[in-house]
Parts: sequence; structure tokens; C-alpha cells
Amino acid sequence: MNKIISINSPKSPISEAYRGIRTNIEFSNLDKEIKVIGVTSSKQSEGKSTVIANLAVSFAALEKKVLILDGDLRNPSVHRMFGLSNIHGVTDVLLEKHNFVDCVHSTEDINKLNVLTCGQIPPNPSEMLSSKRMRNFVDSLREYYDYIFIDTPPIGIITDAGIISTYTDGMVFVVSSNEVDINQAKIAKERLDAVGANILGTVLNKFEAKRSGNDYYNYYYEEHDSRGKSEKRKNKRKKKKEKAMS
Ligand SMILES: Nc1ncnc2c1ncn2[C@@H]1O[C@H](COP(=O)(O)OP(=O)(O)O)[C@@H](O)[C@H]1O
Ligand SMILES: [Mg+2]
Repeated sequence: MNKIISINSPKSPISEAYRGIRTNIEFSNLDKEIKVIGVTSSKQSEGKSTVIANLAVSFAALEKKVLILDGDLRNPSVHRMFGLSNIHGVTDVLLEKHNFVDCVHSTEDINKLNVLTCGQIPPNPSEMLSSKRMRNFVDSLREYYDYIFIDTPPIGIITDAGIISTYTDGMVFVVSSNEVDINQAKIAKERLDAVGANILGTVLNKFEAKRSGNDYYNYYYEEHDSRGKSEKRKNKRKKKKEKAMS
């Protein structure tokens, strides 16, 4: 069973938000082909894998042929998101133990979506990712897919995402609201800039809807509550004053 909201609940506002990101990526496509896309963030658990899985589903729903490749060779999770086995994957292809066709999964729910999981976790992820073989492998996939999404480890901690960005056409930067401070996000962006990454945009993840202007009713009721509270305080002060004067 997968945990992907764009599959389980395509009409939800969250799935709609992913379609909005999809449209933005399509618009970045005007002058330069944007086919290989990486997703990264400053640190762990900001939602990179969640965002990449939902984006991939969103593109596949347009009848585009889409591949997700797990480039997080340290803490792979794409297989879990789609409920797939991770016995064979990227590392097998790179070590020429198995070929791509033997390792790639088709997904049950979305027929245009393929997934290549990590495979066995290697002792030398950065070396593997920076190898000529990896670069050539990703290039060789371009003719078979409309979009290739590559999941990565956090760029604020290790260099892997910077390496991956050099063979992508663009990177999506995920920032988790309340989990990273502005300096961490800035350092991560500087690291992407330093390797010449084409940053397509930033996704603000885990943002609490009640703070958003769109959630008018929540906002209204909060205002109403606090006005009620200050009214009580005013009455208390008035009574105190009356008591002092009597
Ligand atoms: N918008 C969100 N709201 C709530 N939980 C989220 C959101 N995005 C991701 N998560 C949860 O946060 C955890 C980390 O997400 P994950 O995508 O694995 O992060 P990363 O790949 O950056 O390490 C997961 O349990 C995921 O379900
Ligand atoms: Mg992840």
C-alpha cells in the first residue's frame, strides 16, 4: 500500500497544490528542456521524498511517462512510499549486476509511472553518484521518459545532492516550515549555486494552514476569540478601578 496523497486522494487541496507546482515546472520548460529534475532540502525529514513522489504522480496523471529514481543512497525511502521491494535498484545497475529493465518497477496505481529504487546501500554513495557510469546511465534514460525525478539526501549535510544536480536540468528545493532556520536554508541554496544548479523553485512544506490567509474562517474565529479575551481584561480593570475608588 502506498502513502501518496496524490494517488489516494487526488481531489484533496494538497493534491491540487502539487498540480500547481507541476504547472510551474511546465512553465519553466519554455526555453530549455526540463526533463531530469532533482529534489533536495537542507536537512533530513523536510519532505523531499514525499514531494518527489507526489510530483511524479501528478506528472504521470498527464499521461507523461515518468521515472522516479532513488538517488538517496544513504537513507533510501522511495520504495517504502510506493510499497515496493528494494532488493534490486540503482546500485545493481551501476555495478552491472542487473540491467535496468530487470530492476525497474511499474506501479499498480499509475500506469505511466516507473520507479527505480536504491537497491543495496553502498559503502561509497558519493563516489557512485559522481561516477561517469551514473551520469551516462541517467543520460541514457532520457530517451525513454518524459520526466525523470531523482530523490537526494539533504544538501546541508552531505554533497550528494550537489553532485546529482550536475546531471539534472533543474532542482526543486524543499523548505520545511518551522523546521529549518533561514541560515540553514541559505547555506543549502549557496551549495546548490556553487555547483551551478538550476533551481526551479522552492516548495514550502509542512506549512500550517491556520496561519494562511486562505483559511479565512479559522482566522476569523481566532480574532473573535482574542477580542473576547481582551474585553474580559477591560472589564476586570474597570472593576478594580471602581473598587479602589469606593
Ligand atoms: N506536508 C507534510 N505534512 C505532514 N507530514 C509530512 C509532510 N511532508 C512530509 N511529511 C512527513 O514527514 C516525514 C519525512 O518526510 P520525507 O518525505 O521522508 O522527508 P525527507 O525525504 O526530506 O527526509 C514523513 O513521515 C512524511 O510522511
Ligand atoms: Mg527522503
